Amino acid sequence: MDVGGTDVGARAAMDRQAHDERQLGMNKLSFLAKRGNLISVTAAGEGMPLILLHGFPLDQRLWLQQLDYLSKNYCVIAPDLRGFGQSTLTEEPYSMADLAEDVEQVRQHLTDDQPVALCGLSMGGYVAFEYWRRYSKRLTALILVNTKPEADTDQGRADRRAMSERAHQLGSWQAVSGMLPKLLSEEHFAQRGAPFHAAEQMLRACSADAVSSAQRAMAERADFIALLPALRTPTMVITGEEDTIAPPTATRKWAAVLPDSQCHVLAGAAHLTPLEQPQQFNRLVHEFLAPM
Ligand code: MLT
Repeated sequence: MDVGGTDVGARAAMDRQAHDERQLGMNKLSFLAKRGNLISVTAAGEGMPLILLHGFPLDQRLWLQQLDYLSKNYCVIAPDLRGFGQSTLTEEPYSMADLAEDVEQVRQHLTDDQPVALCGLSMGGYVAFEYWRRYSKRLTALILVNTKPEADTDQGRADRRAMSERAHQLGSWQAVSGMLPKLLSEEHFAQRGAPFHAAEQMLRACSADAVSSAQRAMAERADFIALLPALRTPTMVITGEEDTIAPPTATRKWAAVLPDSQCHVLAGAAHLTPLEQPQQFNRLVHEFLAPM
C-alpha cells in the first residue's frame, strides 16, 4: 500500500527528531541483556523512574514528547523492545514474558533497583501485564495505553501468522503499511502532519524479523481478563476516541474491573495517543504520578 509519505516530510521529521534529542540532553545507552540481546535505551531526567514501552511495529521514538515533558519531573526511560529500533534480536522465538524480563533488566540497570511506574502502549501494554504478573512488588504504578487484556481469537492468531509470513516474503513495509490508517485518527492520517511522518518513519524502519517474531509472540500472549480483579497496583488506562484496536467502549469496561484505576478516552486520537495528543497525555500522566 502506498500511504503517500514524501521524502521531504520524512527528512523534516528526522531533522526535527535530531534537533529535539540534542535540545533535551537525552542519554542514549545500550547494554547487553540476558541471552545476548543488546537493549537500546534513551533516558532523561531525574526523580521517580518511569519506563515507557512502545507498541508494534514502533520503537522508542514514539515517546519523544514524553521524554521531553515528563523528564522535568521523572527519570524517564524508553527502551527499544527486542528487534525494534537499535535493539538486537539474537534469539527467536521469544515471548511477552521474555520481554518483561528485559524490562526488569532495564529497571535493575538504570534505576539503582528502585520500584518503577510502567507505561505500555498496545504491545507494550501486553508486556506491562506480564511484568505486573511477575514483578508486581517492583511497581509503583501502571499506565496501560491503547491496549487490551484479552488474548487473541483464533482468527486474530491466523492473521498474525499471515503477517509474519508476509513480512518474510514481501518485506516488512509491505506487511505493516496497511496498519498506518488504523494507528492514526482520520484527521491525523489525512493531514500528513508530524504524527503521520513520525509513525511512518517508525513503520518503515522495522525489519522483517522484528515484525515476524513480534507477531508470533503476541499471538501466544496470555489472557489477563480473569486476573484483572487481582491487579491492585494503582493503574491509569488511556485510549483514543477513534481507536479501533483498543476501542473506548471495551476499554472502559475492562478498566472498570480494576480495583484501583481511572480511565480516560482522548478526543482527536486513535491508537497512538502519546503521539497524537501529547499535551493531554503528558498532563494526565503527571497528574496521576505526582501524588505518589
Ligand atoms: C500495537 O500497536 O502494538 C499493536 O496494534 C498490537 C497488536 O497488534 O495487537
